[in-house]
Amino acid sequence: MTIRTVATQPIAGQKPGTSGLRKKTPVFMGHHYLENFVQSIFDVVGAQGKTFVLGGDGRYFNDRAAQVILRMAAANGAARVIVGQGAILSTPAASHLIRLNRTDGGIIMSASHNPGGPDEDFGVKFNMPNGGPAPEAVTEAMFKRTTEITEYKVVEAQDVDLSRVGRTSLAGMVVDVVDPVADYAALMEGLFDFGAIRAMFAGGFRMRMDSMCAVTGPYAVEILENRLGAARGTCVNAVPLPDFGGMHPDPNPTWAKALMDEMFGADAPDFGAASDGDGDRNMVVGRGIYVSPSDSLAVLAANAHLAPGYARGLKGVARSMPTSAAADRVAEALGIASYETPTGWKFFGNLLDAGRATICGEESFGTGSDHVREKDGLWAVLLWLNILAVRKQTVAEILAEHWAKFGRNYYSRHDFEAIATDKADAMMGALRAALPGLKGQVVEGMAIAGADDFAYTDPVDGSVSTKQGVRVMFADGSRFVLRLSGTGTEGATLRMYLERYAAGPGGLDLDPQQALAPVIRAAMGIARVAEFTGRTAPDVVT
Ligand code: G6P
Ligand code: ZN
Repeated sequence: MTIRTVATQPIAGQKPGTSGLRKKTPVFMGHHYLENFVQSIFDVVGAQGKTFVLGGDGRYFNDRAAQVILRMAAANGAARVIVGQGAILSTPAASHLIRLNRTDGGIIMSASHNPGGPDEDFGVKFNMPNGGPAPEAVTEAMFKRTTEITEYKVVEAQDVDLSRVGRTSLAGMVVDVVDPVADYAALMEGLFDFGAIRAMFAGGFRMRMDSMCAVTGPYAVEILENRLGAARGTCVNAVPLPDFGGMHPDPNPTWAKALMDEMFGADAPDFGAASDGDGDRNMVVGRGIYVSPSDSLAVLAANAHLAPGYARGLKGVARSMPTSAAADRVAEALGIASYETPTGWKFFGNLLDAGRATICGEESFGTGSDHVREKDGLWAVLLWLNILAVRKQTVAEILAEHWAKFGRNYYSRHDFEAIATDKADAMMGALRAALPGLKGQVVEGMAIAGADDFAYTDPVDGSVSTKQGVRVMFADGSRFVLRLSGTGTEGATLRMYLERYAAGPGGLDLDPQQALAPVIRAAMGIARVAEFTGRTAPDVVT
């Protein structure tokens, strides 16, 4: 078989964001676009003699891109690639395979929760040998490489048959096609009390799992229906489709509206959950009650010891800065460390590797633990099920008891999408410039106790990340945070994170939007959102 060296030129804009390189699918399918980026990955991490994991969330172009990446891995001298059958792997399952097989990392094809299809989004990211997303120093090096690339290597060969599990080879490189679900399901069986959950389902417990026509479907059917005995039909939208059936596979109250309607309707099941395009995000809902991701993290941290995998307690809890402080209160009560990191799962990697944190979570519907190095949607669902099975209470009862004990951090995120980038930048620039003068001002009856632009020093490796989001803190413990999303592909998305603490015992069951109303008005006013962007109301509320 011949290795071809193809001359190419740098393509502008191949800079990985919060979670890999994401672009519109036609951009990724453009001349040399995928090839340049993949070669830059191999040039930085080295491919000679190495073993990688490969898989993706099944979106449009996933199958074609997999064949290109396999041919380039072979041409670059890789020894072996472990690839999910049909080029499918959820992100947490890929992370697990990287760790389980002690490989040199993996390439995941996904644009996560962004819609898929010929005119939607595609993405590629590299995960390290620890199973976690490449840190900034590595993605920066990849980006730099894309700006100086002159050639890439690819073997001339037929497509590898990825439809059947088993070992084949490609130009001397071993290709192991594996069942995407089996190893992951075994991992879950080791962490959770499947017997207790099975008994709960056998006792009539009803659940709805909405995989949003994305990658979690096969995992959910195998684990929930086949292994745990949930009723057939518990899992809906469970067949991954190249365009996710036209759905926007982002599990939040706006995009998973069908699930919300069902959970708030007559004859709602006991428990509902949804997951995103690549299976790392989750939303959980009880009958008639939505669980905010920040509260979910806090409840999981407080109850994790009820699951066998965490029976010995947690080493620490980590959350991203815009996530509410609810988990900090749990950590304090448990006498364990809590950490506040910038947005992006990659920042948890060092804490997990160093054994400082066991459970991590983000307001952006991500929760996970040290079992892999990605957030894990189905893991969160199973931990909730394990807790429900042991406590034998409803979601509403568990939340009420939690708030009565710890107080409630009312929380919401307002997103303003597809803002012209220059307008969003101007707004953030003006806000940053105004920060030094904010302390001491009284807005909406609340005194501003401090305002800054969040910077993080990694306690493990000492690396510093600056400008991670503007925070305005009020004397009564309320706060808002503003930052621009790092995962969008069109214009800028402004994220406004809103939080207000109620100690209880009264005032614990208000509507969050009402409880947060003064904080919302303060944020809109201080940031001059309408003036800069013309927007007066958010597109998405979580
Ligand atoms: C991805 C990352 C998360 C991050 C989220 C939101 O899902 O894996 O770690 O919290 O994106 O990022 P964004 O920059 O869009 O707010
Ligand atoms: Zn995702």
